[in-house]
Amino acid sequence: MSIVKIENLSFSYDKQQVLENINLSVEDRDFLAIIGPNGGGKSTLLKLILGINKIQRGDIKIFDNTPSKNLSSIGYVPQNTNINTNFPIKVIDVVMMGHVSHNLNQDLPWWKKIFKIGYSPNELGCAMGSLAKVGMEKFANKKIGSLSGGQRQRVMIARALCANPKILLLDEPTSSIDVDGQKQIYELLKLLNKTITVIVVSHDISVILKYASKVAHINKVLTFHNVDFNTNIKNDNEHFCEVEMLQMLGNKTCEYKGCLC
Ligand SMILES: Nc1ncnc2c1ncn2[C@@H]1O[C@H](COP(=O)(O)OP(=O)(O)OP(=O)(O)O)[C@@H](O)[C@H]1O
Ligand SMILES: [Mg+2]
Repeated sequence: MSIVKIENLSFSYDKQQVLENINLSVEDRDFLAIIGPNGGGKSTLLKLILGINKIQRGDIKIFDNTPSKNLSSIGYVPQNTNINTNFPIKVIDVVMMGHVSHNLNQDLPWWKKIFKIGYSPNELGCAMGSLAKVGMEKFANKKIGSLSGGQRQRVMIARALCANPKILLLDEPTSSIDVDGQKQIYELLKLLNKTITVIVVSHDISVILKYASKVAHINKVLTFHNVDFNTNIKNDNEHFCEVEMLQMLGNKTCEYKGCLC
C-alpha cells in the first residue's frame, strides 16, 4: 500500500492554476526529493499533503485516509523557518511546540493542565528524545537565537519529530546552510529514513542525487523519476543544474505511469 497517494490533483490560488493533474505515489521508507523552479508549486503540494491547503480537484490519501485525519503521522519542517534571534525562547521550548499528543501531560497536576503551565516529565522526555535524534540534546537550554543556522535547522527537525511521525516533510531544509552543514543534515535524514519516510523539497541537486531514492520534478505539472544511485552519482563536489539533471534522468526509463517525459 502506498502511504501517500495523489491522484489527478489540480490546485489554483484564485484564478492562478499552480498544480495540474498531479499523480504521485510514495511508498514506505522512500526518500523522495521534489525539485523544480521557483513558483513551480512544490510548497503548495506539501501544504495539500498536510491538509493546510484544501483539496479542490483530485484526491490525496495518506495511509488510505484524508490528510486532515493523519496530522499526527506527518512531521513538517516549513520553508523559511527564520526565527527572530532576539526572541528569548529556549531550544526545548521550540521542540515542545511540535507536540500534538494530549496524553503526554497526564502526570501534571490539574491546575497546570488547565492553565498549560510547565511540561510533564513525559513531554520533556519526548522532546529530549527528539533532540537526541538530531544530536542537539546538549543545547536544550540554550537560547534558540544563539545557535548557528545548521543547528537551528536540526532543532526544527527535532520539533517535527516530536509527534513521532511516520512521514517527514521538509521544505528546503538546507537553504542558507553551507556545504558541510547541508551534508550533515542530509546524513541525519538518511539515518531517520531507516524508520521514517522522507519527502524533501530541495534545490541542492548534487546532494539530492546522493541521498534520494526517488526524484519528482514539479513545475505545475509533474515529471517523476526513480534515481538509480549507482549510475547517477558523480563526484561529490560536482554541481548540477536542474536542466542537466533532467536531461540525465531523461535518458533513463521512467517507471511512473503518469510520467509526462
Ligand atoms: N497563499 C498563496 N496565495 C496566492 N498565491 C500563492 C500562495 N502561495 C503560493 N502562491 C503562488 O503559487 C505559485 C506556487 O508557489 P509555491 O510556493 O508552491 O512554489 P514553490 O515551488 O514552492 O517555489 P519556491 O521554490 O520559490 O519555494 C507561485 O506563483 C506563488 O506566487
Ligand atoms: Mg517553496
